[in-house]
Formats: sequence, structure tokens, C-alpha cells
Amino acid sequence: MEKILISAKKALKSGKLIIFPTETVYGLGADATNKEAIKSLYSLKKRPINNPLICHFSNLLKIKENFEFNSLDLKLAKKFWPGPLTLILKKKQSSKIQSILSNNTNFVGCRIPKNIVTLKLLRSLSFPLAGPSANIANKISATRISDLSKKLVENALVINSNQSKFGLESTVIKTCGEKINILRLGSITEDEILYYFPKNKIIKKNLNKSLSPGNLKKHYSPNKPIRINVKKIKSNEGLLNFGKNNLKSKIFALNLSEKSDLKEAGKNLFHYLNLLDESKCKSIAVVEIPKKGLGKTINDRLKRAAGK
Ligand code: TXA
Ligand code: MG
Repeated sequence: MEKILISAKKALKSGKLIIFPTETVYGLGADATNKEAIKSLYSLKKRPINNPLICHFSNLLKIKENFEFNSLDLKLAKKFWPGPLTLILKKKQSSKIQSILSNNTNFVGCRIPKNIVTLKLLRSLSFPLAGPSANIANKISATRISDLSKKLVENALVINSNQSKFGLESTVIKTCGEKINILRLGSITEDEILYYFPKNKIIKKNLNKSLSPGNLKKHYSPNKPIRINVKKIKSNEGLLNFGKNNLKSKIFALNLSEKSDLKEAGKNLFHYLNLLDESKCKSIAVVEIPKKGLGKTINDRLKRAAGK
């Protein structure tokens, strides 16, 4: 095993935090069975203690040791793992996962990430890896090492890797009998779920507002004010563009995807918001992004970034 993974394992075992790559965004990791480590993660990230964390595993068997599955959970797991699906599952009594990471409920978000390095690390661990996105609460998620908050980097061991392949967080799902409840839009689109599960009803019912603070109105925010669905750019605004048009910024402009590819736009979104945040513009203007497929997830993140 690579040196960095040996160090990461050692750090986790002694209750320290790590930053790990995934196909969606970078994660801030702690031993899910270590209460003190989880507390320090919440405090470093400035995350409200009632906002639950996702647990990352290397394979289905390990999840089954800790959680109960109904038949639909199992079908979703087999279709989308490893990959950007988070399933909310009922924890078994015997599980050593700390309840503090799930707001003291028995329902925990679980996923198997699709990243070779992190999978290798997970396979070597005897505990699941609790891991929210590696950003300060309410700030932009990081898809590149260079976008990580300094405070996090100084307080966690960083596993260096490439830019996250998808760039948008996982899709969070809780099944309700034969219904699929999407709690957070993500890298897996509703259309994709419909395609593979045509007989199941898809709902979007927020079960308990305090349980899904990732759905809070203000989230994923840059430091600068942000306007979305713009048709004209003001003189002091930086521009986040999409596709081909005549819009220009006098200060700084980036294009999420010149060829109007929503996948490419999703991959670039958080990185470009970070670059705009660091640029000389006073505020950020974002053009309209099509509200279909991944565009729905992108719009969800932009709306929250704008606090709308
Ligand atoms: O792609 C991802 O999901 C990334 C990578 C690192 O895996 N992680 C991530 O974690 O985005 P986080 O904590 O930033 O977002 C998890 C979302 C939050 O909106 C949280 O409220 C919701 O999932 N969530 C987690 N556990 C939950 C639970 N037990 N019940 C309801 N919602 C839950
Ligand atoms: Mg997050």
C-alpha cells in the first residue's frame, strides 16, 4: 500500500482526520466508530451537530454487517455502487457506528465511493469512514486539492489526488416500501433512476427538515454575492457562463461548458465558483443553466449558493 494510505490509516486509528478524494467531491474523514474523532470533525467543519454524516464503505458486505436492507435498497445498491448514491439505511443494534453522526437516530447515509485510492484505503480499514464534504459548513464543496479550505488542510492529513470526476455530490435516497424518496439531488439524475427503476414511484419528500440540512436554503455559498439566471452582466460582476452566447464580463469570465455539456458543467461548477470567488470581481453573475438532467442538480446548488 502507498505510504500516504498507511499514514492515513494510522491517523484515523489515532482519532485524527483525513481529507480523501471521491468521484463526487473531496471528503473530510473520521473513524465512524470513534465518538471523539467525530466530534472534532463537526467542530473543524463548523457543522451543526444535527446534520448527519455519510459513512463510506469498501463493499456491500461490510454495509450489510451494519445495516438492514429491503429489496429495493438492495437493487439500488447493486445498480449504483460503487458510485454517487447515498442510501439512508436502518442501523443494526450490533453496529459500532456512533449515533452522534446521525443526529442520534438509527438511520445513516451509506455509500461506496468510486475512487481507486479511497477504495484501497477503505478496504484496509476495520471501521467505516464518516465523511461529509471537505468544506467549511455552508461554503463551496471542493473538487480539487487547491480549492480546499486552509483551515481544513492544516488540521487533517490530505490524500492528494486529481480533480473529482463528477464534481457534484452524491444523490441521497431513502426508500419507502417501493417508493424512492430523493432527499438530495446529486450526480445520479432522476432520469437515470427512472430509467433503471421504471416501476418505482419517485418522490421528493423532505422527511424532517432538521435531518437534511444539506437542503437548507443557504448552502454551498461563495463569499461574494451571487445572482443566477442572469441575462445581462453588471460592470463589477464576474461571469459564470454556459454554452455559446454574447455575454461578457469586464473583469473575469469562465464558461462551465462551451459545448453546453451538463456533465462537463457539473464537473467544473464548484471549482469555477471558487476561482470567481478569488478573482477581482465584486459579485458573481451566473447565466441560466437548462433545468433538465444534471442541470437540475446544478440549479439546486446554484439556488442555494444564491440563498434563494
Ligand atoms: O458525494 C457525497 O455525498 C460527499 C462525498 C464526500 O461522499 N459527501 C457529502 O456529505 O456530500 P455531506 O455531509 O456534505 O452531505 C450529506 C447530505 C447532507 O445534506 C445530509 O443532511 C444528508 O446527506 N444526510 C446524511 N445522512 C442523513 C440521514 N441519516 N438522513 C437524512 N439525510 C442525511
Ligand atoms: Mg456538504
